[in-house]
Amino acid sequence: MEVERYEKIWIVSSVVVLVAFLAAIAISVFAHGITLPGAESRFDPSAVLQKPPFDKPGVFEIGPGRYEVYLVGMIWSFAPNEIRVPAGATVTFRATSRDVTHGIQIQNTRLNLMLLPGLISTGTVTFNEPGEYLFLCHEYCGIAHHAMAGKVIVEAAAR
Ligand code: CUA
Repeated sequence: MEVERYEKIWIVSSVVVLVAFLAAIAISVFAHGITLPGAESRFDPSAVLQKPPFDKPGVFEIGPGRYEVYLVGMIWSFAPNEIRVPAGATVTFRATSRDVTHGIQIQNTRLNLMLLPGLISTGTVTFNEPGEYLFLCHEYCGIAHHAMAGKVIVEAAAR
């Protein structure tokens, strides 16, 4: 069977691309351990407020200038809905939802997470400027979606 020269080039290059993509997947899974969330990292969202760490949603100091916030979105509020940290604080948010898909976006920061029932989303922000940073739910979640809000209060550092 006679195969046209250009046809041959395209057949070979498409096989090369496929092999390269398969190799990229294999490297990310086996060498870097990047996988989809497995069953062990999921939990029952309806019980999320009964079990650690989300049984006490709030702000925790984990080191000098470093904080962790455990945040739960639910129809139609955030727990906690007021977060107080000193200026310069680096805050890691660990967030989930108790019911439907919510979101959180903090004004004037790059933090923008989906809050998904049964999964934890994580993001970190450093708040250098004192002031109030409004945060909102950015996923339509029902009749009072527009009321789902809170704020981060960044206090000027004491001297
Ligand atoms: Cu929660 Cu919109």
